[in-house]
Amino acid sequence: MTHSQLQSITEPRPNPKRVLVLGCTGMVGRSWIELLQQSKIDCTGVSRPQFDLMNPDSITRCITDQFDLVVNAAAWTDVDGAESDEAGATRANAFAVEEIAKRCATINATLITYSTDYVFAGDASSPYSIDAPINPINAYGRSKATGESKLAQSSASHILIRTSWVYAPWGVNFVRTIHNLAKTKDNLRVVNDQQGRPTSAQHLAHSSFALFTAGAHGIWHLTDEDECTWFDLASEVVRYARFQCTVTPCGSDEYPRPAARPAYSTLDISDSIKLVGPLGTWQTHLHEALDALIG
Ligand SMILES: NC(=O)c1ccc[n+]([C@@H]2O[C@H](COP(=O)([O-])OP(=O)(O)OC[C@H]3O[C@@H](n4cnc5c(N)ncnc54)[C@H](OP(=O)(O)O)[C@@H]3O)[C@@H](O)[C@H]2O)c1
Repeated sequence: MTHSQLQSITEPRPNPKRVLVLGCTGMVGRSWIELLQQSKIDCTGVSRPQFDLMNPDSITRCITDQFDLVVNAAAWTDVDGAESDEAGATRANAFAVEEIAKRCATINATLITYSTDYVFAGDASSPYSIDAPINPINAYGRSKATGESKLAQSSASHILIRTSWVYAPWGVNFVRTIHNLAKTKDNLRVVNDQQGRPTSAQHLAHSSFALFTAGAHGIWHLTDEDECTWFDLASEVVRYARFQCTVTPCGSDEYPRPAARPAYSTLDISDSIKLVGPLGTWQTHLHEALDALIG
């Protein structure tokens, strides 16, 4: 499909009247709830066991016609775990998305849902545009790619946002892991052969909302600006937090994992910047998250 078939912009949307956030316990879900509460927009968050991606009945029960915007921040996010249960990951990341989209179409609500840089093979040398060929190299990427095509076939009004390397001052993420390890360790070896774009969950919620109000439809890429390797990101965590820990670069072969990781997964965010303005650098957003973490 061409770029203009995948993405469009219509009239700016007014603020939604009532928003449902699926997966409100996750990094992105919690950020959405914070944003909506700060903006004084009526919102409801649901998570397991009340809302379960594996249970289609719970999808129908939770997505009622009082909502005009549904944010799906729930997903199977265990990349390595997906290798040993691809059917489970596909149920959560594709078949549930299909159900959610069907339900949103029925109640006439707009759906915002998230996908990943891992739908791409990672063998490019310049940022992936929204119409770059999909070719995932692991089970999680395949499950999200199937979710993307299920959504494209649905009649729901939607914004599908691909993002990457998400971190927040809470939840399970690389930034918190490095911050915890660097407190007590003298040396950390961190992979320097995977390049991408870190993304602050809090800024992601803000920029996603900005895409919504600006009238975006279809596929969009949202991350922080600039790019780096995991080694660069870890080094900046340690430097900013002033830990006495040395960070040494190494290759991915030192940390064999069940799921292959793309070597280069930088998303082209230029369309989003054009529509909603600068997204802010990963360094600036990282410092904000670390300030919140340090307290
Ligand atoms: N994290 C990243 O680096 C990254 C990168 C690219 C794209 N994304 C995408 O961004 C979106 C948001 O992810 P995140 O970073 O906020 O991940 P997260 O912090 O791991 O949150 C995942 C959320 O999904 C919920 N969930 C998992 N399985 C569920 C199920 N069977 N039924 C209902 N809820 C379930 C979790 O609930 P519990 O609290 O019950 O576990 C949690 O609320 C996802 O679509 C993800 O694929 C994330």
